[in-house]
Formats: sequence, C-alpha cells, structure tokens
Amino acid sequence: MLQFPLVRHCPYAPPEEYGQLREKDPVTRVRLPDGRESWVVTRHEHVRQVLNDPSFSADRTHADFPNLAPAGQPLPRDDSAPSMLTMDPPEHGPARRAVLGEFTVRQIAALRPRMQQIVDERLDAMLAGPRPADLVEELSLPVPSMVICEMLGVPYADHDFFQVNTAAMIKRETPQDERRAAFGRVRDYLDELIAGKEDAPPDDLLGRQIRKSRAGGDYDRRSLVSLGFLLLVAGHETTANMISLGTLALLGNPAQMDALRADPARTLGAVEEMLRYFTIVDTVVARLCVADTEVGGVTIRAGEGVLTLGQAANRDPEAFDEPDAFDIGRPARHHVAFGFGPHQCLGQNLARAELQIVFDTLLRRVPALRLATPVEELPFKSDAAIYGVYHMPVTW
Ligand code: HEM
Repeated sequence: MLQFPLVRHCPYAPPEEYGQLREKDPVTRVRLPDGRESWVVTRHEHVRQVLNDPSFSADRTHADFPNLAPAGQPLPRDDSAPSMLTMDPPEHGPARRAVLGEFTVRQIAALRPRMQQIVDERLDAMLAGPRPADLVEELSLPVPSMVICEMLGVPYADHDFFQVNTAAMIKRETPQDERRAAFGRVRDYLDELIAGKEDAPPDDLLGRQIRKSRAGGDYDRRSLVSLGFLLLVAGHETTANMISLGTLALLGNPAQMDALRADPARTLGAVEEMLRYFTIVDTVVARLCVADTEVGGVTIRAGEGVLTLGQAANRDPEAFDEPDAFDIGRPARHHVAFGFGPHQCLGQNLARAELQIVFDTLLRRVPALRLATPVEELPFKSDAAIYGVYHMPVTW
C-alpha cells in the first residue's frame, strides 16, 4: 500500500505514482502518516463526482477526517468558529452566500485599477533595486497580500506577522503545538482588529460584514474572525505560489512567452493552463464519506476518508489532450485546480484577475526577465501542503 503524501520530484510533474494509479487503480487505498488508511481518487471524472456529492463531508474537524500531518496528531482544534471551508449543508450555503457578493466578476473588475497600480509599484521597486532580485519577495508575495489586506481592511504593515505564521501553519513538518500557536496568534490578531472596527464599521469587507450581520441580527465576532482568517490565508499564499510557478513555466517555454507578449488576449487562457499544470492545492482537497457511495465501481463506506488528487485529475488524458504538455492555447478551464462543487474556490475570480494583471505587466515591462539560478537549484515547497517555491532569484 502506498504511503501518502507523495512528493513532487520535478516541479513540472506530479509524483510518478499518480499516473500509474489513475490508469490501473483509480480509486484505491493508501496509508497516511498517522498509520490510518484513506482512499485516493485520481481520475478527473471521479474527483468531480466526490467533490459534488453531499455523501462526502468537508468537516475537517471530524476525528476521522484524513490527516496528512506527519505527527499524526489530530488537526488543531480549539474554540474557533467553523469557517465555510469545513461546513456541510445546511450551514455551508448561507455562510458562503454571506460573502459571495464581494467576489463576483463585477466586484473584482472594480478592483482592477488598484491591482494594476500595486503590480506597477512592486515592479518599479524591483527594477530600481539590485540584481538579482527574489521574485517571491518582490512580486509574488506582496501583490496578493496587499490586495487581500486592502479588501479586508487589514493593515499591510502587519504582513510579515501573518505571512510567517501562515507559512508555519501549512508546512507539513511544523509540530502540532507550533502550528496551533501560529493559528492562535493570527486568530487573536484578527479578533482585536475586528473588535476595533465594531464601533464605526469602515467600508471594507470586514466592516461591511459587521454591518450586514448586525442588520440581520446575527453578528458574532468569532464567526467573522474565522472568515477573515480563511480569506487572509487562502488569499495570499495560493496566488503568490502561482505567480512564481507561472513565471517559471513561461521562462521555460520562451516561444509561448513571446506569443503571450504579442497577444495579451491570450493571458486568461494561459492562466488556466498554469493553474491546471501546477495544481498547487492537491492533497488538501479531502473529504470524509458520510454515506456509502460507489465511485468508479468501488464502494466507499461512511466513515472513510478520501483524498481527491487534483494534480492527477488535471493530468488525466480523458480530460486533457497530451496532459503533460504545457500549452497556453489549450482549453483548460475545466481543470479542478480551484476544486469543484459547492466548495469550489470562492476567490477564483480574484486570483484570475491578479494573475492576469501580473503576467501581462511582467511580460510588457520586463521583457528580458530570466532566472538567475538554475531551475534544479530552486527551493521548491515539497514540504508544504500548498506547492510553490520559497525563493526565485531573477535578473533582467
Ligand atoms: C477554496 C484553490 C485563491 C478563497 C479553495 C479550494 C481550492 C482552492 C482547491 C477548494 C477546497 C476544498 O474543496 O476543500 C485556490 C487556488 C488559488 C486560490 C489554486 C490561487 C491561485 C484564493 C483567493 C481567495 C480564496 C485569492 C480569497 C481571497 C477561498 C475560499 C475557499 C476556497 C474562501 C472556501 C470556499 C468554500 O468552502 O465554499 N481554493 N484558491 N482562494 N478558496 Fe481558494
């Protein structure tokens, strides 16, 4: 029985075993670090089935939920209110709808001029600074962090604090007590910040949520802290990794990079392909079966865990022609890099807009961009639940 999680040995490819599983044993059992077993599903069709079926719960606080932490201890649990990420019906729908209006295509379009300004300012600073520069520090991390901070009404000046703590939370090796402490620090920080907004709620996402839930008679600071926490963490680390990895893919495929520079109308398609190709959130998208269900001819029983391997699904030849090729011109939008079904990424329009603006601007303003370190020497995040690169020295 395979031991999970498997690591990516090549930044451009899934763990080798994914392809074999998808072909020969698409719904199969694996061993988790705590010694327990879980199902893994690897085909595009099956991943979408599981993620769209209420027989599979997203309640990560349940003791039987598959846990990939090496210590094999239960996931951190405390008195935090649940966030939408861990909710099932009937709670999930209302929690998601309460904030959905902040992430519509129209809302995000209104933020584009400010996003463009942020990207330009970061590039001004990078271009004025020494070479080589670390793309992660100069561009990938600050852009999504600033955007989500401004949306929420969190002072960007505190970004070091929550970036350090987020990194500790998602690193698989972080001992559970440290993980819990990092989690508690960000939660206490947000609690204080939100308390400070209660007297005169400002016109930012957190302030608007205070007013809205007060008007509905159900304001509860603990729930808003959990929402703020989820958005802050989900909103910067993921997009940041995609900025670095997407840049890496373009640098490794100069003809496609030139094609994109010549025709920015292709950038949105390129972004979908980058999301598919790297699928940075892979084993994290897990579920707990709550009613016996057949998937691909195999019965998964209530009480059993399932990892839906998005990176395997996104390389499924049944869903994508020549799936291992990076091709910015392919139709890739049916990828599952943002998940699928009711929990599909709430921030996807925001992430797409950020990535589109970043790549358009980077290609236009820094045409001579190149890596200052060979790809093989880059420190990839093989040890984190969300894939990416820690540092990426570039020059121009
Ligand atoms: C959910 C990926 C950016 C907020 C998810 C899920 C995935 C994902 C795979 C589904 C998790 C599951 O089903 O268990 C990504 C990727 C991103 C990204 C790859 C960047 C490239 C963002 C941003 C935000 C965000 C920018 C917000 C500011 C959320 C939220 C959920 C979520 C709130 C939970 C939705 C729910 O449970 O209903 N994301 N995400 N994400 N994402 Fe993202």
